[in-house]
Amino acid sequence: MTEPSPARHTPRVFSGVQPTGNLTLGNYLGAVRNFVALQEDDSVERLYCVVDMHAITQPFKPAELSGAIRQLTAAFLASGLDPAKSILFNQSRVTAHAELGWIFNCVSRLGWLNRMTQFKDKAGKNRENASAGLYVYPNLMAADILVYRATHVPVGDDQKQHLELTRDIAAKFNNDFGVPDFFPQPEPLIPPESARIMSLRDGTAKMSKSDPSDNSRINLSDTADAIAQKIRKAKTDPEPLPSETAGLTDRPEARNLVGIYAALAGTSADAVLTEFGGRGFGDFKPALADLTVEKIAPIGEEIRRLSADPGHIDTVLADGATRAAALARPIMDEVYETLGMVGGGTA
Ligand code: TYM
Repeated sequence: MTEPSPARHTPRVFSGVQPTGNLTLGNYLGAVRNFVALQEDDSVERLYCVVDMHAITQPFKPAELSGAIRQLTAAFLASGLDPAKSILFNQSRVTAHAELGWIFNCVSRLGWLNRMTQFKDKAGKNRENASAGLYVYPNLMAADILVYRATHVPVGDDQKQHLELTRDIAAKFNNDFGVPDFFPQPEPLIPPESARIMSLRDGTAKMSKSDPSDNSRINLSDTADAIAQKIRKAKTDPEPLPSETAGLTDRPEARNLVGIYAALAGTSADAVLTEFGGRGFGDFKPALADLTVEKIAPIGEEIRRLSADPGHIDTVLADGATRAAALARPIMDEVYETLGMVGGGTA
């Protein structure tokens, strides 16, 4: 890992995922697989958070939220996250996130939030009716990261702008309150080969949990048959695959499928095209389906096994929240003291 900012900040990893539906292959290849890989490094602390307070910024059903939190936790565990190596918890249980989120609402600028493309995408045309929470969402995200003074944040490409805002908030807090290096400048860790996995139905749209068409995505909970069928149905073009990546330029669907193959095989798009260049999708799709089933179907089976024991999942989350709160509280004490708030956060 590169050194993000002065040595005062020991390397620490934080990332979050919203409990808003099944995890997709995009979430897995863009983020969660990296969360797991980072467990190899014994020198860093890791926190992976089910961000339930972010999930209520858009319409949701209370009766479904607890199930979604447990389902995402099961997917974390099934993907290889180990509570002995990583702190796994849900956001609402550690109140320091909301506390620092409010303070950052007062540090962040309207002009900065107005530039956030995710707000524009999610609010859509009916912006007047979006929740205020959706608008200040990036401030809470900055709080998630900085309440632990995290230095590294594994995410997909779509979170890059939010990470830049986090860095701006950290710098403004440090500067405005005369506390240089109080907060670090966190670095995004974006996997180059799978930064943005696209929809199987439209190579120009991101693969997303919220796409109305289930055929647009592979869910980590899909069975082997469902995975194979979705790949068979994936949109393609009539041309054979090129033998070099330059030939994928105007072929978004072909580029996406080659990228997925490369990411799952742990190789490069060039290497995939060396093998499959000149061959049609009739050859390539079965190979991609086999590889995806091999890598993803066991995760789905493990999710189903873990979901049968919600008591175990709840224990993991409760234990993680206790450990996370113990890291956040002394940092919040320093924040309140810096702001001159007498006894802040202690009642
Ligand atoms: P969320 O829940 O939308 O997505 C979770 C992670 O998956 C990545 N991702 C993708 N990567 C590649 N291709 C795709 N098609 C794809 N779709 C999603 C996302 O980049 C993300 O890393 N705002 C965040 C949650 C969050 C967070 C945080 C993240 C809240 N607080 C603090 C990091 C640090 C979000 O909505 O992710």
